[in-house]
Amino acid sequence: MHPNSDFMHRCELVDLTRVAQGCFRLKLYAPALTGAEPGQFVHLRAGSSTDPLLRRPFSIHYVDQKAGEIWLLIRVVGPATSALSRLRPGAELDLLGPLGNTFPAREEAAAAMLVAGGIGLAPLYFLARRRLEAGLAFDLLLGGAEGSSLPGDAFFDCAGLKPMLATEDGSRGFKGTVVDLLKQRLESGEKPSRIHACGPVPMLARVVDLGKIYAVPVHISLESLMACAVGACLGCVFPFKINGMLEYRRVCRDGPVFNGEEAHFNFV
Ligand SMILES: Cc1cc2nc3c(=O)[nH]c(=O)nc-3n(C[C@H](O)[C@H](O)[C@H](O)COP(=O)(O)OP(=O)(O)OC[C@H]3O[C@@H](n4cnc5c(N)ncnc54)[C@H](O)[C@@H]3O)c2cc1C
Ligand code: FES
Repeated sequence: MHPNSDFMHRCELVDLTRVAQGCFRLKLYAPALTGAEPGQFVHLRAGSSTDPLLRRPFSIHYVDQKAGEIWLLIRVVGPATSALSRLRPGAELDLLGPLGNTFPAREEAAAAMLVAGGIGLAPLYFLARRRLEAGLAFDLLLGGAEGSSLPGDAFFDCAGLKPMLATEDGSRGFKGTVVDLLKQRLESGEKPSRIHACGPVPMLARVVDLGKIYAVPVHISLESLMACAVGACLGCVFPFKINGMLEYRRVCRDGPVFNGEEAHFNFV
């Protein structure tokens, strides 16, 4: 049980929409969670049975304060995400949150670059919308293996977002990975104030390398397997090199957003 019952919620599923191949957006009525900020996540139990037994972490994809909703964006990869994708409106979900820290972005006015690989779009969409609402400049770069794995144009248009897409098969946008696209933009002389990245660990490692080469600070949102999600079990630790010393940080409690330059990818 979480030490603070303010973090435990039962929420009703209001809407579930398929937005791309294997990818679903869930809207949950959760007024108590609408103070959440981009980068934070919830730890939820999919369904009322004990299968799957463990909760799973999901980034908060957006907060609609007027409607009292939080949104999640889910890619189906296993039992929990598959169970979530089959829920119907009216279903109740049991979740802990909001958990974790946030992207340190709202105060900076210069253009930032938001780099999302696949389902890494979930928290960066929220950050992008917050920056848009605050009049802060940014570019959103989104990559996937193929066009059908990414949400269609209407998904972004209705939020006023215009992402630059990269697909490995070239079916939508730039042909290549989102890191190739980022590299091209940096090589062409663009100088973002900061890069915020979320996606698979090898992608994050490459983004951090580019940040070092082009002297752009990088914040990464890490995904790791989680059990407790409240800092107790040490099941989610990731290595960092801080002042030359190897240190392990808990992704759930110390993150999930970290200074990319300190992440020790070679050790993973
Ligand atoms: C802070 C955080 C935020 C997340 N946000 C989202 C989100 O917004 N949307 C989303 O779809 N997913 C997100 N994830 C990942 C999600 O929690 C996992 O995909 C989850 O385990 C899926 O559960 P499952 O039962 O469907 O599949 P599982 O059976 O748990 O996993 C299926 C396969 O994926 C592997 N896997 C699971 N999680 C990870 C991981 N984190 N890193 C590497 N491999 C993994 C497993 O080893 C297994 O092979 C997030 C993870 C973290 C830590
Ligand atoms: S999941 Fe238990 S310490 Fe992070």
